[in-house]
Amino acid sequence: MKFLHGFLPFLILAFDIFELVQAQDQSGFISLDCGLVPKDRTYVEKSTNITYRSDTDYIESGSPGNINEMYRAQFQQQTWSLRSFPEGQRNCYNFTLTVKRKYLIRATFIYGNYDGLNQLPTFDLHIGPNKWTSVSTLGVTNGSIHELIHVLTQDRLQVCLVKTGETTPFISSLELRPLSNNTYVTQSGSLIAFARVFFSPTPSFVRYDEDVHDRTWTPFLGNKTSVISTDASVDTSNFYNVPQPVAKTAAVPANATQPLTIDWTLDDITAQSYIYMHFAEIENLEANATREFNITFNGGRNWYSYFRPPKFSITTIFNPGAVSSPDGKFNFTFEMTGNSSLPPLINGLEIYKVLNIEQQETDQDEVSAMMDIKTTYELMNKRSSWQGDPCAPRLYRWEGLNCNYPVSEPPRIISLNLSGSNLTGTISFDISKLTQLTVLDLSNNDLSGEIPEFLSDMKLTLINLSGNLKLGRSVPEPLQRKIDNKSLILIRDGTGKNSKNVVAIAASVASVFALLLLLAIVFVIIKKKRKTNEASMPVSVTTGTVKSETRSSGSSIITKERKFTYSEVLKMTKNFERVLGKGGFGTVYYGNLDDTQVAVKMLSHSSAQGYKEFKAEVELLLRVHHRHLVGLVGYCDDGDNLALIYEYMANGDLRENMSGKHFNLKDSYLVKSISFHMLKHLNLGTGKLSVNVLSWETRMQIAVEAAQGLEYLHNGCRPPMVHRDVKPTNILLNERSQAKLADFGLSRSFPVDGESHVMTIVAGTPGYLDPEYYRTNWLSEKSDVYSFGVVLLELVTNQPVTDKTRERPHITEWVGSMLTNGDIRSIVDPKLMDDYDTNGVWKVVELALACVNPSSSRRPTMPHVVMELNECLAYEIERKQGSQETYTKDSVEFSPSSVSDFAPRAR
Ligand SMILES: *[C@@H]1O[C@H](CO)[C@@H](O)[C@H](O)[C@H]1NC(C)=O
Ligand SMILES: *[C@@H]1O[C@H](CO)[C@@H](O)[C@H](O)[C@H]1NC(C)=O
Ligand SMILES: *[C@@H]1O[C@H](CO)[C@@H](O)[C@H](O)[C@H]1NC(C)=O
Ligand SMILES: *[C@@H]1O[C@H](CO)[C@@H](O)[C@H](O)[C@H]1NC(C)=O
Ligand SMILES: *[C@@H]1O[C@H](CO)[C@@H](O)[C@H](O)[C@H]1NC(C)=O
Ligand SMILES: *[C@@H]1O[C@H](CO)[C@@H](O)[C@H](O)[C@H]1NC(C)=O
Ligand SMILES: *[C@@H]1O[C@H](CO)[C@@H](O)[C@H](O)[C@H]1NC(C)=O
Ligand SMILES: *[C@@H]1O[C@H](CO)[C@@H](O)[C@H](O)[C@H]1NC(C)=O
Repeated sequence: MKFLHGFLPFLILAFDIFELVQAQDQSGFISLDCGLVPKDRTYVEKSTNITYRSDTDYIESGSPGNINEMYRAQFQQQTWSLRSFPEGQRNCYNFTLTVKRKYLIRATFIYGNYDGLNQLPTFDLHIGPNKWTSVSTLGVTNGSIHELIHVLTQDRLQVCLVKTGETTPFISSLELRPLSNNTYVTQSGSLIAFARVFFSPTPSFVRYDEDVHDRTWTPFLGNKTSVISTDASVDTSNFYNVPQPVAKTAAVPANATQPLTIDWTLDDITAQSYIYMHFAEIENLEANATREFNITFNGGRNWYSYFRPPKFSITTIFNPGAVSSPDGKFNFTFEMTGNSSLPPLINGLEIYKVLNIEQQETDQDEVSAMMDIKTTYELMNKRSSWQGDPCAPRLYRWEGLNCNYPVSEPPRIISLNLSGSNLTGTISFDISKLTQLTVLDLSNNDLSGEIPEFLSDMKLTLINLSGNLKLGRSVPEPLQRKIDNKSLILIRDGTGKNSKNVVAIAASVASVFALLLLLAIVFVIIKKKRKTNEASMPVSVTTGTVKSETRSSGSSIITKERKFTYSEVLKMTKNFERVLGKGGFGTVYYGNLDDTQVAVKMLSHSSAQGYKEFKAEVELLLRVHHRHLVGLVGYCDDGDNLALIYEYMANGDLRENMSGKHFNLKDSYLVKSISFHMLKHLNLGTGKLSVNVLSWETRMQIAVEAAQGLEYLHNGCRPPMVHRDVKPTNILLNERSQAKLADFGLSRSFPVDGESHVMTIVAGTPGYLDPEYYRTNWLSEKSDVYSFGVVLLELVTNQPVTDKTRERPHITEWVGSMLTNGDIRSIVDPKLMDDYDTNGVWKVVELALACVNPSSSRRPTMPHVVMELNECLAYEIERKQGSQETYTKDSVEFSPSSVSDFAPRAR
């Protein structure tokens, strides 16, 4: 048996030196009857005389409801109405209080079939960014009460209801009671009340105003105990202010010669516990009588020896350091000593479980700034996720925000996307308070005024102001300097006639990389429609001072120069000497054309669909050129022989690279026999053994590049294209490990306006196929986004897309279920050997899960994906460059304090 700390309990006697008994009023109480309407209504509850009021001032969302009338009589009035949260994943109550004060927080839930569905809800309750508990309703009238003793870390407190399944969260009442700093002191963490009992044969529970702190005390009687009581008043003036009904009764063993025993079991065997026992002698003892006992727990461990409860005065014994039990079982024995003529007794018992408050809240100034931004731009009703802490927990981060999560420091906001949020007025100065911000996207709003100078004092590297037609055109001089020395990219509306087009293009190109790319390559956009024959569309991109305008026209007529005869194909492949691989439509051979290496895909004669796919791919590839799309060198359409000739991708496909099958001997050794865990140790210091795995940085690089290829198909091509078969085997790497998308055989032009999006044949690869597209036949770019999300999950986990041996066979569900424990490491490819930025991995996983959202409308667009991935890549590069401090500790080790610190102390 192992205890983290010395556990010798303190003992706190009643005293009358300090006047600590608080006035019997409700000062400092916040008593909310949730869902009470109208909003200014208050009332005094009959059984407690507590004044309740509506919760409207503390919450922005949810809808009021009432429990079924027939159940009312059983409950106190504050549970008659309730607030439910059908909208949004996380809904939060917000209190402005005093930092570092200790509060008892009580949330009460009585379902009472308020919605007539007779469906018992389950959901989670959070305190700030930390999970407090799960709430489950066991019956229509089985209420639950959850109490937490919590010290405020900021001057605001948020209590959030989090939807975890299908059912709708709700809350009946929420109460806050200030507590003295000197009570319920823990070494760390907050305290979840597990039990607070007194010993009385009457079934009614005790709370305010008998308990000045309004703790709830439940009567409890074991079958081996009996009760003694007194009418005399008991001094309860130690810090704990036990209520009189609790102090005036006590449990004693039913058989006076037997010890008194109390035991309980905590479900969570790892739980740390604090236990408070309250004692007072409540019998008028004869002069020669003594009540003295030893308290031991879990098989004889000493808790307190030779204890004599003072007469008619409460003493509290508690452990100053947390205790735990390896099987979650606690048993306490109270046994008379040899001096004693009377059996042991106990008046009250409180049992708490430690709730570790691990997740820090976002930097307080940044929270204030975000609140002001929310108010200034009236975003309350537009952004349902903008509740609770902006960055934490990650899972419920505010939409449009990206944060950095430094170890043991508050999270900071690093990007803010308010694109298309109908913002009006000027660019708020509050933005300047987000001092770590690097990306600011205010595009497609209705902002006016001038571009403010404060933007130049920030860490911003990308500002998107496009699509704000009323915004001033002049760029402040300091900002311009940053643009000129290329430390900042500013996207805004161009000047002149074409500004409308510029908006469209600039808005779709949200990433720095994509933007540079656009400037770097010849940007050809051909607006080709079958019905109309319009001229090409002029395009210009404005980034600060850089301006480029390219104009081009063309058609998709297959040009003669790129057409090869069959005999030329035979020559370049040396009669099909070397096979590179076999695909769905035929075999791929290695070849040489002049001095260039090529890959030649011969289409098999048998494939009926082959010719159609062939034509689709030829047409597409001759029309579309992008650094991250595999280039078509030429084709062969010679009688029965159809071939596509591509640029050669020396490093194979992503699948091979992930599995470690494809590797350069000169770079690394493939070590199979040693487990990777051991390798990590071997690796330390020697720097010689290396495993052939793609590093996290390489994976991110590949992800960014593949995403850019896809983004180009979706947004750079006219008409846009949908790839329809995004998967690791279609992401190829060249000799410099640059990634390119390949295999456009299934690609489709995205239908132009007015045409149907419905595809008669659903095509794609199982596992990567968008379930919505599969169900509805409705094709959009978002189907590629889905597939890309699956690829991202593979990059992170290196797990098969479907694996029947997993409880959740499909990778999207598997990752989702694994993440419920909050431990990202449980899913990350162990081959990475912990060499990655956890924040970055989280971001990618979040992004991937957004991409695979069952509803296509909720998936991000590829420009967004590119932007996010670029950020992750930047972090990883920064981490690799910057840090020798990779050895951060996950857990703090406690050195046991000297036992004397915990020696019992009487007060
Ligand atoms: C509530 O207050 C009224 C008036 O002050 C008093 O008569 C009544 O006894 C109180 N009830 C309780 C339960 O304290
Ligand atoms: C919480 O309420 C206070 C006012 O009581 C307000 O200033 C603050 O912005 C609110 N915070 C949140 C997160 O709603
Ligand atoms: C409790 O302690 C904090 C700081 O330690 C202080 O700000 C607060 O006022 C204290 N509260 C009481 C009731 O003493
Ligand atoms: C006392 O209660 C326990 C558990 O509730 C039960 O198993 C036991 O039979 C009871 N003993 C007596 C004497 O009633
Ligand atoms: C009380 O316990 C003792 C053993 O410690 C036993 O001999 C005695 O019979 C018990 N009395 C009753 C009333 O059960
Ligand atoms: C205590 O004294 C009373 C008489 O004053 C006597 O009846 C009783 O037996 C004594 N009890 C003990 C434990 O000595
Ligand atoms: C009390 O706990 C100890 C250690 O966990 C165990 O050995 C003993 O059987 C328990 N006693 C009872 C009465 O449960
Ligand atoms: C009470 O505790 C003391 C000190 O731990 C021990 O010496 C003594 O034997 C105990 N008495 C009983 C009756 O268990």
